[in-house]
Amino acid sequence: MKKTSNIGKYYYCFPQTVAMIGVQTNIMPAAWHTPISAEPPLYGILISPKRYTYELLIKENGFTVCFVDVSHAQLSAQTGSTSGRTVDKTKAFNITYTQAERVNGPILQDSYAAYECEKFDVKEYGDHFLFVGKIVLLHFQENVVNENRLTNEKKIAPMLYFGKDRYITTDPSSLAIHKRS
Ligand SMILES: Cc1cc2nc3c(=O)[nH]c(=O)nc-3n(C[C@H](O)[C@H](O)[C@H](O)COP(=O)(O)O)c2cc1C
Repeated sequence: MKKTSNIGKYYYCFPQTVAMIGVQTNIMPAAWHTPISAEPPLYGILISPKRYTYELLIKENGFTVCFVDVSHAQLSAQTGSTSGRTVDKTKAFNITYTQAERVNGPILQDSYAAYECEKFDVKEYGDHFLFVGKIVLLHFQENVVNENRLTNEKKIAPMLYFGKDRYITTDPSSLAIHKRS
């Protein structure tokens, strides 16, 4: 295995699910996001201060995180290469959504799951800010979720990002279950 201390891009954790981050009526895709705590339910998103979304996140007290399937890769590319500063993305890209109930953000109609997050904490880490949200309302399509509240691998082809504009999804036939001892 080759070693280097010249770190540069260290994106070997890809592929990662793309989350669509919504504030007010603006949407941007994010590949850098993570669950943080189960109780309380905390979710983190990493946002560069260059983004319009960052400005909105500073002003508002919440945001939405929507998960859509891989058929939305083009939408990810479109909303990830335009800024809400100059483009009304929901109009420009015909995005249908409803207003979230507990925070000021959109819930994309095509989402198979979405979180409404109240702003819980914000910290700067290098060139990104970690916005931690407390999930106060969970949306999910009942027909794609199994009894353990997990996404059914046969019903959803998640949108995974592999870096450099490459999208990929899962192969349900590859599912393996290895019980923990
Ligand atoms: C697949 C994908 C993943 C991205 N992930 C992030 C991310 O995690 N954090 C971030 O700050 N920007 C990320 N971006 C860039 C923003 O989505 C992009 O700059 C967007 O145009 C910002 O929109 P806004 O100015 O309306 O906020 C990503 C872009 C793409 C296409």
